[in-house]
Parts: sequence; C-alpha cells; structure tokens
Amino acid sequence: MSYTPSGNRYNSIPYNRCGKSGVLLPAISLGLWQNFGSVDNFENGQAIIRRAFDRGITHFDLANNYGPVPGSAEENFGKILKQDFGGNLRDELIISTKAGYTMWDGPYGDFGSRKYLLSSLDQSLKRMQLDYVDIFYSHRPDPNTPLEETMMALDTAVRSGRALYAGISNYKAEEAMKAIVILKQLGTPCLIHQPKYSMFERWVEDGLLDVLEEMGVGCIPFSPLAQGMLTDKYLKGIPENSRAAKPDASLKSSDLTDTRLKQINDLNQIAQTRGQSLAQMAITWLMRDKRITSVLIGASSVKQLDNNLDSLNNIHFSAAELEKIETILAHS
Ligand SMILES: NC(=O)c1ccc[n+]([C@@H]2O[C@H](COP(=O)([O-])OP(=O)(O)OC[C@H]3O[C@@H](n4cnc5c(N)ncnc54)[C@H](OP(=O)(O)O)[C@@H]3O)[C@@H](O)[C@H]2O)c1
Repeated sequence: MSYTPSGNRYNSIPYNRCGKSGVLLPAISLGLWQNFGSVDNFENGQAIIRRAFDRGITHFDLANNYGPVPGSAEENFGKILKQDFGGNLRDELIISTKAGYTMWDGPYGDFGSRKYLLSSLDQSLKRMQLDYVDIFYSHRPDPNTPLEETMMALDTAVRSGRALYAGISNYKAEEAMKAIVILKQLGTPCLIHQPKYSMFERWVEDGLLDVLEEMGVGCIPFSPLAQGMLTDKYLKGIPENSRAAKPDASLKSSDLTDTRLKQINDLNQIAQTRGQSLAQMAITWLMRDKRITSVLIGASSVKQLDNNLDSLNNIHFSAAELEKIETILAHS
C-alpha cells in the first residue's frame, strides 16, 4: 500500500534545539538497532517508520552493524525511504549512522581508524541509497587510535558532503571533552553525544551532561527503557517474542534479577498513580533534565511506539514523585 504522510504530523511533538546548533530534534526519536533487520518482518518495520513520521518523529537513528544481519537495518531503511519518502521528504528527515563496532573481517572493519570510518560510511550510504546522512557518529572511543585521527575522519565525512554533522557515542566525560575540543579546532563542531542513559544506567550524570552543556553539544540518550526492562512486560516472566527471549539476546534473562523485578514493580506502581505506563514514565523521567535534546527509543510494534509517544501527555513530575523514584532506584 502506498503511503501519504499525515498532514498533522507537525502538531503533536515538541522539537528541541540540539545543543547550541541550528538543528531541532523531536523530543522522541526512533532507533533501528533491533526489529528492522533481515530476520524481522519488513512490513512491521515499515508500519513503525510510517507511524513515527505521521506522529512527528523526524529523526531516525541507524548504525552500520544494525540488523541482524549487520547492515540489513540500513538496507531495509533504504527500501522504506525509496518507497515512502520520495519527493522532498528526505529534507524533512534527520538520518544518522555510525561506525565503531565490528563490521567486517580483518584489521580495518572495527573501532576508530580513518580507514574504517570513511569506508564504512561509504558502505552505509550505499545500503541506504542516500547521497548523505545528517549525522555521522564515532560509535565508540578507540583506545588504540589517536583521538585526532578519529575526529579528523568525522571532519572529512562532513567536509566531503557525506554527512552534514558529526557526533560521538559512548565517550565518557573526559574523552568527550577532548573529542569536542578537537572537532571545534578542526572547524566541524560536535553536534551531539549519544550515551546510554535510563533510570537503571546513570553514569552520564557524573560529569558528561555538564561537559555537553558547557560545550553546547546536544544529548540523545539510548536504551531509555533499559531495552524493555523499564516497561511492564517482564513483571510476569519473559514473554515470547520479547527481546529477552530472542536467541543471542542483547538483554539477558539474568539481567532480570529479583532486585530489578522489585524495582520495576515499585516503579510501575508510581507510573500507575501518574496515569502512565512504566515505559511512558521512564521516557518522561529523562526529559526532566533540560540538557536532554531527544530520547532515543526502540519499538517492536506500532502499539509500543504509540504508547511511548503518548508519554508526552504528562511530562511533569512533582518533587515527591521524583523523591520516591530516587528511593526505589537507590535499592539496587
Ligand atoms: N550508540 C549506541 O551504542 C547504541 C546502543 C544501543 C542502542 N542505540 C540506539 O538506541 C535505540 C534504542 O535502543 P533500545 O532499542 O535498546 O531502546 P529501549 O527503548 O530501551 O528498548 C526498546 C525495546 O523495549 C520494548 N518496548 C518499547 N516500548 C515498549 C512499550 N511501550 N511497552 C513494552 N515494551 C516496550 C521493546 O522490546 P521488545 O522487542 O521485547 O518488544 C523494544 O524493542 C536503538 O535502536 C539505537 O538506535 C545506540
């Protein structure tokens, strides 16, 4: 079936400025790490992308290795773009990709060398059938490559027109500061940092957010639902088709310890008193810090996506609610 985007798509979601840049990102963005690979149902993925765009999500996040199999999420996304986002719709999208984790055999398919980053970006563009991406990230720091080399590769990506902006992901506060300074000296400012951040993973609060604020860089936290743990889905065991039930799952059943389940249960009760699902509360909890530009969610169905986007109906927390949440999270 052909797709015509909703005419109301820009009426429902706030757009936040990304650091001190000219770019606005939707308060919630969608990532294609899982559920969009060649092992997944293409039409389901396509329906999620269409619904996301209809509800104002303009930013889609990819990486070279997303799938499984690695590369197939970019291929599928390229097909969806071709089918559904013709005409000038590309200009309404912010598409990101990354390189930094293992992508191909041999010494040049991993980490942060110039050789890897630029050849990987060329491959990503081919898979997505794009002339350029909006953001190209160094997916993780490389302890064995000079930071200058990795940042110069990002600078080249931008200057050569393959990317409009540069980003970094998984860099701790101190190395993020160094990377941001190098990029600034090169004349390609760092647009955004993509760290893991949720109620269950809070390292960014120990310095990284301060660095980003000081340097005018945006922040887009990934895995805000701790891969599904911060929802009500695991309260009664591990459902079929859930991430924790998949072969080689990135979320292990062993992550669902008794302590975690007790926390999830207690948090779920607070969410209920707020008239929200736990997923909705976990997303809006991240928005309490104004340094967060956009919350980068995943979804395996249109229903989940809708539920997550409806979180925007209640983003206010009372001081008492925040305190109760802190008390629950302190018991780990
Ligand atoms: N830079 C990096 O190193 C890095 C690493 C990881 C992710 N990311 C990015 O961040 C994006 C999001 O990561 P993530 O997928 O881990 O995020 P997440 O939002 O924490 O988890 C998404 C999963 O939670 C479950 N879920 C979502 N909404 C739900 C709802 N309303 N009710 C019940 N369950 C719900 C689904 O699991 P089921 O599949 O079980 O239904 C879904 O696949 C990725 O796609 C990627 O773009 C980046």
